[in-house]
Amino acid sequence: MADENNSIIRVENVSMRFRMANDRVTSIKEMVTKMLKRQVEYKDFWALKNVSFDVKRGEVIGLIGRNGAGKSTIAKKLAKELGFIYVDTGAMYRAMAYYFLTNGIASSDETKIAEACPNVDVTIAYENNEQQVILNGKNVNGFIRTEEVGNMASATSVYPVVRTKLVELQRKLAESTDVIMDGRDIGTCVLPNAQVKIYLTASSKTRAQRRYDELTAKGVFCDFDEIEKDIIDRDYRDMHRETSPLKQAEDAVLVDSSEMDIDEVVEAIRSIYEEKKGC
Ligand code: DC
Repeated sequence: MADENNSIIRVENVSMRFRMANDRVTSIKEMVTKMLKRQVEYKDFWALKNVSFDVKRGEVIGLIGRNGAGKSTIAKKLAKELGFIYVDTGAMYRAMAYYFLTNGIASSDETKIAEACPNVDVTIAYENNEQQVILNGKNVNGFIRTEEVGNMASATSVYPVVRTKLVELQRKLAESTDVIMDGRDIGTCVLPNAQVKIYLTASSKTRAQRRYDELTAKGVFCDFDEIEKDIIDRDYRDMHRETSPLKQAEDAVLVDSSEMDIDEVVEAIRSIYEEKKGC
């Protein structure tokens, strides 16, 4: 409840959980301190920017702060600005994973996965500038963004047989056109001679918050801690696998987007690109 005269926000008889972009807020005092840093002058009064309140199961959950600024959003925006083609390689691993899942193949069964690979044809196409993943002739874009497919992709992308197939396709794409290619092994393995390499990262809390906001906006009830744990586990798997582990290429520039919004990241990468190209 807002008290207009005194500019006080009063919340009564509720259990509260406040979340901000990067961390959970555990006390009102902490929340106010953080909120004050985000106030902006609006016409003749002060307002809080990017604040939304969402009521769930009798609780008031204050979602405060910037929305997720994932690498695919940034890469898409940059590609559009620079006239490049955006290639999301994670979507290709997801499409393969979707095939394994729908054909009842377990992620631990490397033999069955190797046998299945020749039957999987993954290609990409573009519709309204959006990448579409075509799996054996069927557009699977609408099926590959679930946690289940993401976890399966993480587990099966460790197999060389899966990687060899997709890396070949990715190199062919880059040979024929200017690309911004998004993926963990692009700078180290797929395109070691890429002119500009960016290692884009954000804290696990920030990434969990972005995913949480994304799912909540779609009306999916989810648990923040579970999402963060999934992210940490997946990072660990991706960074410690034998084949093409996730790591920063020596000549890649690190960009940490934890405290940046989409436009700030796009700007940062664009200036790195311009500097490298000598524009
Ligand atoms: O970026 P993403 O969440 O859509 O990727 C899904 C999984 O695919 C990820 O956990 C690891 C794998 N992957 C990979 O091994 N190499 C890539 N170039 C892209 C993704």
